[in-house]
Amino acid sequence: MRIYREADYDAMSRRTAAIIAAEVVRKPDCVLGLATGSTPVGAYRQLAAWNREGLLSFRSVTSVNLDEYKGLGPDHDQSYRYFMDRNLFDHVDIRRDRTHVPDGLAADPEAECRRYDALVAALGGTDLQLLGLGHNGHIGFNEPGEAFVRETHVVDLTERTIEANARFFAHRDEVPRQALTMGIGAIMAAKRVLVAVSGADKAEAVRRAFAGPITPAVPASILQLHPDVVLVGDAAALSGLGEAAMPL
Ligand code: GLP
Repeated sequence: MRIYREADYDAMSRRTAAIIAAEVVRKPDCVLGLATGSTPVGAYRQLAAWNREGLLSFRSVTSVNLDEYKGLGPDHDQSYRYFMDRNLFDHVDIRRDRTHVPDGLAADPEAECRRYDALVAALGGTDLQLLGLGHNGHIGFNEPGEAFVRETHVVDLTERTIEANARFFAHRDEVPRQALTMGIGAIMAAKRVLVAVSGADKAEAVRRAFAGPITPAVPASILQLHPDVVLVGDAAALSGLGEAAMPL
């Protein structure tokens, strides 16, 4: 695993964006696995700036997002489709029909999960999968449990996740209780995984994910078995890793 320790959120965002940009330059028709949450917002802003300046083009890129709230459609301002449009896709030259997010409004969510796995497989998997990290060690919406779930699936969100995401909604009761999430199989099949973390409140999750036992109780811990993981964090988020997290 390669670890980049950056001073603060802005430096972490630039580093994250640079690694994504390097992939796009290396392989203009790459498949990017993208993530939502507050962590990647700065990286997306940087990518949009480089696109605007003509340094980077997403013209041939395909994207697949990790997850979506069950019951929220693209027009809901807390849906992940809406988030991706506003934070990245509206600002870069990616073709909208090549951006994929699970359909939170699918009449048959189980069928939608199977469709999503088939789609990712047909694309040949992701070249680079960007991940944030939940406080309980979740990746995408793969919540702690008794087993790693391989396929895209409908998940019951934990109270801790509902609590953490309530800040984005007018009221806690509005936070969906379920989501569709890509499974551990597709995440682990990514050629490269890029984990971005920021803030002291993530330090314990980072430590448990990368310096603790590999267990479905900490879903991100499975990444210890992936052959090509890049972890980018600010100093606060990486503080639990100690000497293991020296700058490159
Ligand atoms: C959400 C998303 C995850 C994200 C996590 C952390 O639950 N489903 O993909 O990584 O929260 O979010 P944040 O970056 O806002 O801390």
